[in-house]
Amino acid sequence: MTLIFKTKAILVVAFFNALLASAVVNAAPPDALAGKAKAQICFACHSENGISLTSEIPNLAAQPSLSITYQLIQFRGQQRKGGGMEAITMALSDQDMRDIAAYYAALPPPPARPGNADKIAKGQQIAGTQYCNSCHGSQLQGQKHIARLAGQSPEYVMTQLKNIRSGARIDMDGTMGSAARGLSDEDIEALATYAASLN
Ligand code: HEC
Ligand code: HEC
Repeated sequence: MTLIFKTKAILVVAFFNALLASAVVNAAPPDALAGKAKAQICFACHSENGISLTSEIPNLAAQPSLSITYQLIQFRGQQRKGGGMEAITMALSDQDMRDIAAYYAALPPPPARPGNADKIAKGQQIAGTQYCNSCHGSQLQGQKHIARLAGQSPEYVMTQLKNIRSGARIDMDGTMGSAARGLSDEDIEALATYAASLN
């Protein structure tokens, strides 16, 4: 079991290293204006302003562009599944993904959402003790390939944390899987409430 998991993790890491290497060769610079035109098909769910229409759909506004690009590549490659995103990404080239990511990354972040004060305080504490903020940023604003959680839909964050914890969603290098493994359902709710309360 452990061996299978490790092998899988090594393959995933190898895949992403290859991806990184291929991404820097022959890549035109990302073009947010072209990205806006290409993102028309996304607006029905993620909106033009990157603030999604329902709680199951993630906000994309101010997400780090590399994080958006990597998630799109994972959907297209079927390593990640959900929300019909596998089919939607099928027709996108790497350049389309970088352009669309540049468009959403440049938008103003979603507004903070008020929530239960005890849950917010508990979530903030766990984010510190579990080092969430060392990867996702001090205000959970995201960085590089690591998602912004600030202002994200709490329902979406809870679903993703549970899927990552169970292994239903495999993360690209195993670090997020380790981070989620020890969390209880209560911890997850507190973390999602805290993240949503940030801007
Ligand atoms: C029919 C609605 C729908 C459309 C259209 C759609 N999405 Fe999504 N998208 C979703 C849902 C739902 C999820 C959450 C999937 C999950 O539960 O894992 C998602 C997830 C994502 C994520 C992952 C975000 C994260 O923080 O991990 C990205 C990036 C994304 N979509 C980008 C796009 C782009 C770019 C387009 C247009 C090319 C697009 N989506 C079109 C519904 C949609
Ligand atoms: C070692 C760095 C690291 C730590 C620590 C970490 N994360 Fe992550 N997190 C990541 C990476 C990388 C991803 C993207 C995973 C992927 O899809 O491949 C991610 C993804 C996520 C997602 C999915 C976001 C989305 O938009 O789909 C959530 C939610 C999340 N992390 C929450 C947390 C919480 C809460 C903690 C603390 C308990 C935490 N993370 C700790 C690196 C980290």
